[in-house]
This record gives sequence, structure tokens and C-alpha cells, in this order.
Amino acid sequence: MNQVSEQAVLQALSRIQDPDLHKDIVTLGFVKDLNITQGGEVSFRIVLTTPACPVKEQFADAAREHVGGIAGVTKVNVTMDAEVPKGRGFTDKTQMPGVQNIIAVSSGKGGVGKSTIAVNLAVALAQMGAKVGLMDMDVYGPNVPIMLGIALEQPKVYVNKLIPVEAHGIKVMSMALLQPGDKPMIVRGPILHGLVRQFLTDVVWGELDYLIVDMPPGTGDVQLSLAQLVPVQGAILVTTPQEVSLSDVRRAFRMFETVNVPVLGIVENMSYFIAPDTGARYNIFGEGGGARLADEYDANFLGSVPLGIEVREGGDCGVPVVVSHPDSPQAKALKIIAEEVARQVSIEALKPELVVLKKGL
Ligand SMILES: Nc1ncnc2c1ncn2[C@@H]1O[C@H](COP(=O)(O)OP(=O)(O)O)[C@@H](O)[C@H]1O
Ligand SMILES: [Mg+2]
Repeated sequence: MNQVSEQAVLQALSRIQDPDLHKDIVTLGFVKDLNITQGGEVSFRIVLTTPACPVKEQFADAAREHVGGIAGVTKVNVTMDAEVPKGRGFTDKTQMPGVQNIIAVSSGKGGVGKSTIAVNLAVALAQMGAKVGLMDMDVYGPNVPIMLGIALEQPKVYVNKLIPVEAHGIKVMSMALLQPGDKPMIVRGPILHGLVRQFLTDVVWGELDYLIVDMPPGTGDVQLSLAQLVPVQGAILVTTPQEVSLSDVRRAFRMFETVNVPVLGIVENMSYFIAPDTGARYNIFGEGGGARLADEYDANFLGSVPLGIEVREGGDCGVPVVVSHPDSPQAKALKIIAEEVARQVSIEALKPELVVLKKGL
């Protein structure tokens, strides 16, 4: 029997296209550690750009099928793996060696569910196998620790650095952990800048695929400081379907444009309410605003999250809805949004030339 050649295996695998990157997985360099035994047993790893890849299983099945079809192959061992690539621009700004991507969750105004989205997004990505940090930069109303059930914890200090608190599989840092109680923060521009810097460099974040940053509402100093200090891979804008809220998002859009942070997409929260008793759908804050806005700005629409009592309860009692009610429509919507965010980050990371073009406009 002829020995199965490496070339034949790679040729078979090159039939698998990445739907987002529009290239095959061999050209993209996703196939690693190919090994073929005398007996025709073929083993390899497929290393994707995010563990939160919705087509992971399809890739594995297709790989098994295509390679299994080669004459002489007796067994196919596929290992699915992920290495999140480092976002662009990390060399010329603040050094955060272990952090691959920074994602800001922002909104035009408060109360639209920004922290809720940031918390559930971070936990959902961790559930999918990513290494995730969550930095609560809403210095005026830091409520992430309550939402994660760690309001009474205090970060440990190690050689002048802060160790983030761990909860639901993610690493967390927040002003509220350093200054417990409900004293309002009164900080102005220059001090804020220092605070943002400290949260980035004086916290032992370690190895992270995604550092999610929960921003204060609006278009203020924290947004500018973050963009100046580190390369932010992208911003997610949260809105409700209401017009008032949408006009605030427009302002946020312009701000991110001026600081060269790409907007990864728009999340519409509190989109509608399904009455648990009758199943009737109520569009409490109007309909379709997020999608219209995405259309207007040529941005991605990342998804919509319906209103749900479980979401608020989860926030109040410290267990995010993706953990407490993983099968609820809200949690499912949030998980799809997490996959979508990971996908957009991968697309941005692997298309540097496009990003530069966009920035040069
Ligand atoms: N989809 C939702 N369904 C029900 N309640 C929600 C939803 N999204 C957010 N909330 C609640 O609305 C309030 C404001 O949300 P929050 O995330 O704190 O907003 P922001 O960070 O934008 O100020 C919180 O009490 C939260 O639990
Ligand atoms: Mg908030």
C-alpha cells in the first residue's frame, strides 16, 4: 500500500473555506502538527482564531470527511484548537504583553444595559473556552462587581500590582473593588487618565484573549484615555431601539471615529418583551432601531437581546443570565452576540491592510 502523502492531506483540507476570511484553512495556516503513520493514520490540529467559533464542529466534520476519503487513510484524528491573534497596534503603545485584544463596550447614555452586555459577553466568551478579563471603567457607577457577585471581595496586592478578582471564569477589576461602599467618585480628566493607565498596567491581567472594558456612558475622558493608552481593537455600541438613545449612539460613533477605534458593531438591548403568561410580544421601546442605525453607519448589527426578568435578577444577585438561565432567549441571544464579537475581532486581526485603509480615510 502506498504511503499517504502530506500533500494529498493538505489538498483535501484546502477544500475547507473559512466563511469569514474567504480563504481555505490551509492557506490561512490553520492546519498544524500534521502526522501520517505508515498504517495510514492521519493526525493534525486545526487552530482557529477564536474558541468562540460557531462553525468549529462543521470544520472538524468536513476535515474528517475529506481526509477520510483519501485512498490509504485508515483513521483521521482531528484536534480543534484556537489561538486568538494579537490585535494590531500593540507594539507602539502601552505594553500589555499577555493581552491579545481589548474591546470597549460603550453607549451614548446610561441605563441601556451596557454593563449587563459587557458582563454576559465576557462570561459567555469564557464559557466557550477563551481567556477573558473584564475591566470596569465606569468610574461614576461601577456596578460590575455586584453583577458578578464579588462586591465584597478585595483584590490582593502582589509586588505593587493588583491581582484581579476571579468570578464565573473571568478576571475582574473595578473601582468598586478598591473603594467599596457607595461613595460617588469625583475625578477629573488628568486623574482619570492616570486611573485608566493604572487599570491597564498595574493590574496583573496575565494571558488574556479578550479584555472587555465596560465604559462609562457618553463620550468623555475615559474613552479618550483608553484609546490613547492602548490599541482598542474595537468598540461595541449598545443601544435600545428608542430614537433618543439612537441619537446618543450617533455621537459615540463619531467619537470612536476620531480616535481611530473601529466600531465592531451595534447591540440592541431591551428589544422586546415576551409576556411569560401569554407569549405575546411587546415592542416596549419601539422596533428595529439598532438594525437601522447599523445600516446607516454601515456597521455590523451584532444582535438584539430581549427584555427579561431573569436578566435583571441575574444582575442583582450576582449570577449573569448566561450562567443562571443558559437556555433562556436572552442568554441564547447573548451567546450569539459573543460569537459574533469574536468573529469580528478575528476578521479585523487578519485583515490589517483593510483596517489601515479605513483609518486613512
Ligand atoms: N435585557 C434586559 N432585560 C431586563 N433587564 C435588563 C436588560 N438589560 C439590562 N437590564 C437591567 O437594566 C438596568 C440597567 O442596566 P445596566 O447594564 O446597569 O446599564 P448601563 O450599564 O448601560 O447603565 C439593570 O438593572 C439591568 O439589570
Ligand atoms: Mg453600567
